[in-house]
Amino acid sequence: MSISSKATASAILNRMIVLVGLMGAGKSTIGRRLAARLDVPFVDADDEVEQAAGCSIEDMFEVHGEAAFREGEKRVIGRLLDGPVGVLATGGGAFMNEETRDLVREKGISVWLRADLDVLVRRCARRDDRPLLKDGDMRETLEDLINRRYPVYGEANIVVDTGDKPHRTVVDRIMEELSAGGYLSANRTDASA
Ligand code: S3P
Repeated sequence: MSISSKATASAILNRMIVLVGLMGAGKSTIGRRLAARLDVPFVDADDEVEQAAGCSIEDMFEVHGEAAFREGEKRVIGRLLDGPVGVLATGGGAFMNEETRDLVREKGISVWLRADLDVLVRRCARRDDRPLLKDGDMRETLEDLINRRYPVYGEANIVVDTGDKPHRTVVDRIMEELSAGGYLSANRTDASA
């Protein structure tokens, strides 16, 4: 059966899949769909940080500053990596932290959702609650982040181009890469037989 078929839902995941990439790359949307395909839980690090702090990321940046947000983000991701295996969507800056990267390398499988500038600008324009994109020209900011972050995101175990491809195609591609990289073990039917 093909890797993109329903049968892959029985694949066993041994490590957390950690989605990384810039704002607008589709980490949460793709993450949710990937988790459904694998039949594992989905967790969004930004949501968890907000829950732990009891306020929005926007307010956190404004009231406590970016450094405090980054500390919280690092702590929350560390905790989630020790939790039940599933798919974890991280905020765009999380993988830039060396300690977080080391933890992800040790405990997870990192997947970089790579998108080009035009795609990111278009998608980010749909929301206005991202603190890093509030001031200045969005395109320039994203271009600067691409220059600084893409070499680091490039350390991820798997790289998948998202572009304007349908979500299903991107999920198929990730599944293929997970399988080719030996990240999916025997299926549940086999394991329980
Ligand atoms: C950030 C990305 C955001 C959020 C915060 C900072 C970043 O998450 O964590 O605003 O530094 O790139 P998304 O990538 O999910 O938008």
